[in-house]
Amino acid sequence: MSSPQRAAAERRDSVPYETVDLGVLVIGAGAAGARTAIELVEQGVDPADVLVVGKRQHGDAHTTWARGGINGALGTHDPEDDWTVHAADTIDEGHHVNDPQKVETVTRRMPALLRELDEWGMPYSRTPDGEIDQRYFGAQSFRRTAFAGDHTGESLLNTLVGRAQSLEIPYRENVFVTRLVEADGRILGAAGYDMDTGGFLLFEADTVVLAAGGYTSLYRRHSSRDDENTGDGPALAYQAGARLMDMEFVQFHPTGMVGARYGDEWDGRLVTEAVRGEGGRLYNADGERFMERYSPDQMELDARDVVARAIAREISEGRGTDAGGVFLDISHRDRSFIRERLPRMYERFADLGVEMATEAVEVAPTAHYGMGGVVVDAVGETDIGGLYAVGETMAGVHGANRLGGNSLAETIAFGQVAGEAIADRVRAGDPAADHASDVLHDRATLHFGSLQRLVDAEGRHDPAALFDELRAVLWKHAGILRDEETLAAGLDALASIRRRASDLDVGDPTSRSFEFAMNLGFALDVAEAVLRGATLRTESRGAHARTDYPDDDEAWRRNVVVSRDSVGGMHLTTRAVDEPSEEVQVALDAGFELDYHQLE
Ligand code: FUM
Repeated sequence: MSSPQRAAAERRDSVPYETVDLGVLVIGAGAAGARTAIELVEQGVDPADVLVVGKRQHGDAHTTWARGGINGALGTHDPEDDWTVHAADTIDEGHHVNDPQKVETVTRRMPALLRELDEWGMPYSRTPDGEIDQRYFGAQSFRRTAFAGDHTGESLLNTLVGRAQSLEIPYRENVFVTRLVEADGRILGAAGYDMDTGGFLLFEADTVVLAAGGYTSLYRRHSSRDDENTGDGPALAYQAGARLMDMEFVQFHPTGMVGARYGDEWDGRLVTEAVRGEGGRLYNADGERFMERYSPDQMELDARDVVARAIAREISEGRGTDAGGVFLDISHRDRSFIRERLPRMYERFADLGVEMATEAVEVAPTAHYGMGGVVVDAVGETDIGGLYAVGETMAGVHGANRLGGNSLAETIAFGQVAGEAIADRVRAGDPAADHASDVLHDRATLHFGSLQRLVDAEGRHDPAALFDELRAVLWKHAGILRDEETLAAGLDALASIRRRASDLDVGDPTSRSFEFAMNLGFALDVAEAVLRGATLRTESRGAHARTDYPDDDEAWRRNVVVSRDSVGGMHLTTRAVDEPSEEVQVALDAGFELDYHQLE
């Protein structure tokens, strides 16, 4: 044995870890991860060669919190709708910086994919004659949001988990992946730990799929579960050398619950857009239906960025409620209608002592969705060979702002697309190079060594406190309205957190402090990408609103691309956006749009 080999072998012995050898590792067990794994197996990949890992128990993922619906141009009520109009609405809402090819992939596939879910047992809400029902959602020209009451995400995930179980797809719960390992632009596997036992884990895999969600839990007020959407997916890819894109585009959902009224644990939690899709109206504290001033044609169902900014303005100009929100009122609808169409909302507010059939609820904007993410090609592959990203982890479909209902659609469509591509790759036989296993073990050993040193060090700073501080920084400095000065101050504040994050007081890997330390390591890079992207983009477009550059700028019809330079610094460039296909251009030129008043 040569001395470098001996040194590597000694390092390995010093930090014990379990190795799991497989073909395809799927990181994330929400709708995107589940749909990818299902496609792989449907396409003939042996389920024993696939493993889905998630931070929580099987069937429990952030998807369960998605509520109002999933888009696809079925035309149940509006036969004029088709996939080209869906694509045009998506691009209009994305303010023309979406990747048109990816938009077409989603919108073309969705009608068949919605029907496939139906065959798999998805409990859709139905019309009286048994068709899949579709409701209005913001900024969509037609009713194309299919739904299961207001628990669409939960029903979707249950359906996918049932399908995955019938295909015997293995799942390992309580796994936190902390590092991807690549060499020479090729993925070799992933390292992490078992959150229950604290044991280090190394996954040796020819293909890795990142289906680990987005990054809006990095905002103080957010609609996600606190421990999810903390940026793992984009950060893992970026730290391994893949590029990110459009991280400055962060969607603020107009209607999050107001903690001062309902309690801190409810602060920012989603009041589904379906409440407005079913007729809910917004009023300020003076009783004025203020959307008449901001958007007389589309009213409460205008795009999320428009409605969120309108609410924020009402509040900041003193027309908000004492608790810091505005009122959302659907009490003009019958109780039976509300209970049927919005059962979870009705129950939640009833438990809090609010009767939606007679009273308004209080809402204010909340960070909801990151349109940015990992740069991927047409089938979801990143810059690193064999590393894919799907769902909210990937970038490109939504541009500068996302249509409600397109998030679940993307998870299903790109899960299928990536699954097909990976199955082809497996069939073609594309194992990593012979020396890959040694490289993987050496790199993993170094990584586990650094995690062990983190545990052993007696640092001064609490990772949970720093993580909370970072959330406050993004909320304050990269919120609904931004400007150069605020963003620069945000970057300074972030640099201060980064300095302190190198001196942490962390427990063993089963502890919450260890989990927060891992979250913080991801969050610092993601937050920096958001702040830098927002600084670079000197215009306002969709969800990115700069008070010092209030208009959009045709020269900025570009994507902001973020990469790690050779010394580990963050580097930003821009790239041009492709043109849509002729079919979609025809639909764009036709100028379809929702007319709110036909709902009344
Ligand atoms: O309001 C909602 O139900 C959210 C849906 C979505 O973001 O797609």
